[in-house]
Amino acid sequence: MSSKTLILVTGANQGLGYYAAQQLAATGNHHVLIGSRDVNKAKKAIETLAADDSVKVSASDLTPLEIDVNSDSSIAAAAKHVEQTYGKLDILLNNAGIAQQQEAAADSSGPSLRDIYRSHYETNVFGAAVVTDAFLPLLRKGSAKRLAFTSSGLASLELAAKPNTLYSANNYPIYRSTKTALNMIMLHYALSLESEGFVVSAADPGYCATNLNGNSGFKDPRDGAKELVKSVVGEKKDVHAVMVSDDGVVPW
Ligand SMILES: NC(=O)c1ccc[n+]([C@@H]2O[C@H](COP(=O)([O-])OP(=O)(O)OC[C@H]3O[C@@H](n4cnc5c(N)ncnc54)[C@H](OP(=O)(O)O)[C@@H]3O)[C@@H](O)[C@H]2O)c1
Repeated sequence: MSSKTLILVTGANQGLGYYAAQQLAATGNHHVLIGSRDVNKAKKAIETLAADDSVKVSASDLTPLEIDVNSDSSIAAAAKHVEQTYGKLDILLNNAGIAQQQEAAADSSGPSLRDIYRSHYETNVFGAAVVTDAFLPLLRKGSAKRLAFTSSGLASLELAAKPNTLYSANNYPIYRSTKTALNMIMLHYALSLESEGFVVSAADPGYCATNLNGNSGFKDPRDGAKELVKSVVGEKKDVHAVMVSDDGVVPW
């Protein structure tokens, strides 16, 4: 394992993170920490990955890691565990995210608008920022110095400003604004860590069928996960300080 790059994928127990972990581990070049807020879900995901004959992955290249991105103590414990076990981290993929209801119920049943905004920003923005900050000292000790974020084409202000398109801003205001904020955080790290040799990127996987959207996406998550993998291991000239998609770089 020592010759393999060590990658942490948050929210890797299902969906895009799961398939990104699969594709990365299948190369044989990486050891992937399957991040999950429930370690049993991570263990189950590793069992499923190892049993999937369509993509050969060795269970020895996968390790569960409990990490709830909403919890500072969980993040700190995960970083401490990685430090004590490996002494470094080569690559971090901030992937955990949520997309739930986008407006409060008119009859005030259920969460308030403020609470809905809070929960989305808590996971999608604050979570990724705090995880990055906690693991940065370990990434600095790593050999790859790669940092990636799972964003979304919905984050794009340029695309959102075009009316009557798939990406126009008249829907998903809460979710999409978290991803716009996430892109700014990505850009901050891309520019501020460049002199240390870091490559920092974001990915737009496209609209993929996962639990996030009740499996309504029209794209296979395996294909969407390829964009995550590109942001993680793609060449610097193609991925650094931009959001990549299968259509190329997504406009801000
Ligand atoms: N699907 C799409 O079309 C699409 C498009 C653009 C971007 N994305 C982004 O892709 C990423 C992955 O989403 P997905 O589509 O694969 O959805 P998913 O299947 O629902 O997976 C989301 C993952 O994030 C985890 N997660 C949620 N809250 C967490 C927390 N507090 N701490 C740790 N993990 C947490 C989930 O864990 P549990 O299993 O415990 O819930 C799950 O592993 C998200 O950032 C999403 O915004 C998705």
